[in-house]
Amino acid sequence: MSLDALFQPLHLGALTLPNRVIMAPLTRARATPGNVPTALMAEYYAQRADCGLIISEATAVDPLGMGWYRVPGLWTSEMVEGWAHVTSAVHAAGGRIFAQLWHMGRLVLPDYIGGAQPLGPTPLPGEGQTFAPPSLDYDGGFLPMKPYVVPREMTHADISQAVEAYGGGAANALRAGFDGVEIHAANGYLIDQFLQSNANHRTDAYGGDLPGRTRLLREIMAAVTAVAGPDRVGIRISPTSARKGMGDENPDALADAVASLAQEFGLAYIHLIEPIASGFMERPENPVISRIRAIFRGVVIQNGSFDGPSADACIAAGQADAVSFGRPYIANPDLVTRMRGALPLAAADMDYAYVGDARGYNDYPTWRAAPSQ
Ligand SMILES: Cc1cc2nc3c(=O)[nH]c(=O)nc-3n(C[C@H](O)[C@H](O)[C@H](O)COP(=O)(O)O)c2cc1C
Repeated sequence: MSLDALFQPLHLGALTLPNRVIMAPLTRARATPGNVPTALMAEYYAQRADCGLIISEATAVDPLGMGWYRVPGLWTSEMVEGWAHVTSAVHAAGGRIFAQLWHMGRLVLPDYIGGAQPLGPTPLPGEGQTFAPPSLDYDGGFLPMKPYVVPREMTHADISQAVEAYGGGAANALRAGFDGVEIHAANGYLIDQFLQSNANHRTDAYGGDLPGRTRLLREIMAAVTAVAGPDRVGIRISPTSARKGMGDENPDALADAVASLAQEFGLAYIHLIEPIASGFMERPENPVISRIRAIFRGVVIQNGSFDGPSADACIAAGQADAVSFGRPYIANPDLVTRMRGALPLAAADMDYAYVGDARGYNDYPTWRAAPSQ
């Protein structure tokens, strides 16, 4: 199978991508404990530079929105400098990279923010638990887990600060040499918490009906596009996902509203997590991809449990313009080559997905370099 559609070039905003294979954002927790990107990360991203576009791992724009050990940030000059090494390495390898801008909202544990209560639209906790920061005698193994806590309802001043942090994050991303930014509005983090009806019970201008629940996103889009220009801005959404206790009373209407906003601002792309098969999340009963396509004229990237042939079929059918791959990129730095040649994919060691250093991160061999193949 030649996968002709997947390997066609694509105009995405200000960029021309050589193929339609997108590296999905993957949190791998290899920054320093102070959230500064490392040389290891530069090597890891450069190894994957032959895809059409790399979307970086989620990158915190505000210390109050950072709740994960050793994830990178984008709010200090040291972080910008660390990222500049990453973007230089990717560009030197011929690639393109966007920064995924992140605020975790209610999914931040107090342990990460000096014991303070995390911020959210409404005093309702996320469902489940997450990694707590390690104790001083940490030996590098698995991190302790703690349940999410009830967040403090954000005031208008808190909301303005978060919007400013997104604008500042976008400015720092450009300073660091990123080709653009992706607004992370998926997976139950801050923006998604405002968007989805079961997490947002506000009665002010930031809650209630769809214009209310999308207001934070509108303000963030305005701040980010003012800095980067709409042709260097994308958005990631998961309106049908129930992960971390999320849920919306009408995902179709939510998808329409977000697609209309993205169209209004002229964003470069919408990146939709909506699996074709079970895995990272279940396939929704009523997929929204075709609704988004009907409203949004920019590039649509679909994500979720794809392989080469299914991605090619999706693009050939006009369902999406490009497909992103997450888990396959963990163990296959040369995913493009492997899919092009219909070569087998290596399996990831998920024990090292979120912890560790070089092992299970940038030590996966390419096909030709792999032993006994
Ligand atoms: C280890 C790991 C880290 C992830 N980190 C992020 C992230 O930082 N930001 C994000 O939007 N999604 C993140 N995701 C979700 C992936 O981008 C993707 O949506 C998911 O893996 C499904 O796609 P796949 O079937 O191609 O793996 C992560 C997933 C995994 C497995």
